[in-house]
Amino acid sequence: MSQLEDRVAIITGAASGMGAATAKLFAEEGAKVVIADLNQDLGEEVSKSLGTQGIFKYVDVTKEKDVSGVIQVALSKWGRLDIMFNNAGFGGARGPIETISEDDFDITLDVLVKGVFFGIKHGAKGIKHSGTGGSIINTASVAGLLAGEAPHLYSMAKAAVIHLTTSVALELGKDDIRVNSICPGVVATPLAAGRTQVTESQIDRMREKMGKYQPIGRIGEPEDIARAALYLASDHSSFVTGTTHVVDGGANAGRAWSRQHPTMTGEGPIKLYRPPGR
Ligand SMILES: NC(=O)c1ccc[n+]([C@@H]2O[C@H](COP(=O)([O-])OP(=O)(O)OC[C@H]3O[C@@H](n4cnc5c(N)ncnc54)[C@H](O)[C@@H]3O)[C@@H](O)[C@H]2O)c1
Repeated sequence: MSQLEDRVAIITGAASGMGAATAKLFAEEGAKVVIADLNQDLGEEVSKSLGTQGIFKYVDVTKEKDVSGVIQVALSKWGRLDIMFNNAGFGGARGPIETISEDDFDITLDVLVKGVFFGIKHGAKGIKHSGTGGSIINTASVAGLLAGEAPHLYSMAKAAVIHLTTSVALELGKDDIRVNSICPGVVATPLAAGRTQVTESQIDRMREKMGKYQPIGRIGEPEDIARAALYLASDHSSFVTGTTHVVDGGANAGRAWSRQHPTMTGEGPIKLYRPPGR
């Protein structure tokens, strides 16, 4: 049997990148999926590709009534909500700390933190309405774990998502609602390329340029994150809540320079220690 048969999911930011890949995988696994995004053209395209299992709803995650509204869409169209994937995001304000304005601060935090807060709040209500438990998944980032991976406010916002996730997981466990975050590393999407629209050849250049810095030798693909989301959405993770799920090809495991160190390459003056007689 498919892993998400008879389940209903809402995915924010599903018009592009990892949200779109997750919508496709969830549908292949039997779920009905609401594509919640402010990009109407791309969102409708993704929804159409899912046939009767997909529906697009315009949602700006910074607006509480949009987020509460999309829960109602899932409930009235399919009668239940099992999975809320709070994934919408953007790069936010960049630049040195002294150049960041209050407006830049507000819009960055509105999308990346307030949007996730609204998603958890209303997602929990929707899942409780169905009464059989469910899964809330929030897209954070390795930038929320380690400084220097992304601009200041983006990093701060993703750290907030990680902590909100663990905090709410403690509350919602009794309702059999699991709450986990995913921390992607660099993934081949328009966001990572620093643009809203990119060509496939620009993404290819990013794969080539950044892949060699990753311990696993390539950057992530949206499908890598979709598979992590599928695990967290499905019954395979029924005992998993409050976790921070890192999917980054090893980038956050340690410092890349260690790969060049003689102890790692087996070259150089450092020899393996062997006790006498062995
Ligand atoms: N790509 C990476 O390297 C990377 C790494 C770590 C975390 N992330 C996070 O992954 C998530 C998905 O990003 P992606 O890389 O797939 O990027 P993407 O640009 O391909 O997709 C982001 C989607 O979010 C939507 N969106 C933006 N603001 C919105 C709003 N206010 N309301 C509703 N929808 C909105 C966009 O329209 C877009 O469809 C984001 O939260 C991002 O911060 C990305």
